[in-house]
Amino acid sequence: MSNLASPHSIDGLQLRQMCPKDCSQVAELHQYLDDAGWSESQWLDSLENYPCSWVLADNKKIHSYICFQTTVPQAELLNLGVAPARQGQGVAFELVSAIIKLLPEYVESIFLEVRRSNIPAIGLYEKLGFKKVGERRGYYATSSGIKEDALIYKRAISL
Ligand SMILES: CC(C)(COP(=O)(O)OP(=O)(O)OC[C@H]1O[C@@H](n2cnc3c(N)ncnc32)[C@H](O)[C@@H]1OP(=O)(O)O)[C@@H](O)C(=O)NCCC(=O)NCCS
Repeated sequence: MSNLASPHSIDGLQLRQMCPKDCSQVAELHQYLDDAGWSESQWLDSLENYPCSWVLADNKKIHSYICFQTTVPQAELLNLGVAPARQGQGVAFELVSAIIKLLPEYVESIFLEVRRSNIPAIGLYEKLGFKKVGERRGYYATSSGIKEDALIYKRAISL
């Protein structure tokens, strides 16, 4: 995995690789943003299995997280979240753009799945150059019991 060669900051927040002690705060934010957000132990497992995970933090707290699974020659964006107070300020766009440059060199393309109703995320991914390549009908469970479709998006590393 690529390391951060030099300090990188986005919107005054430091970008750094996620470490085990971050997992409790990341889980808290993830569960706040998503009903199906992972627990701390799921984040700890993820970090062990998929070490391509980063956070944006100040010296008090974590404001954003991003996590990829990589399998030669591709990466899958598994999780991305920005704290509500930081949303709508270009943080996710800057974060994903920065991380694309830090993925292992063998990664040629990135895939992701997003709920059909997640308009902010779909807008973000399309702005980043992702194109819709498929759908999974009724893939996500919802609290109302109605299943929701997943849209599958793909982007080549070099556009
Ligand atoms: C999706 C999410 C990560 C976007 O983060 P963000 O930092 O607010 O996004 P940005 O400010 O970088 O926005 C980039 C683009 O995304 C789109 N976008 C962001 N928020 C939007 C909204 N509320 N409505 C419509 N489009 C939106 C726009 O295209 C925007 O570009 P623009 O500002 O030029 O219009 C954030 O809303 C979030 O954490 N949501 C909850 C978790 C989640 O859904 N994660 C994705 C799972 S697939």
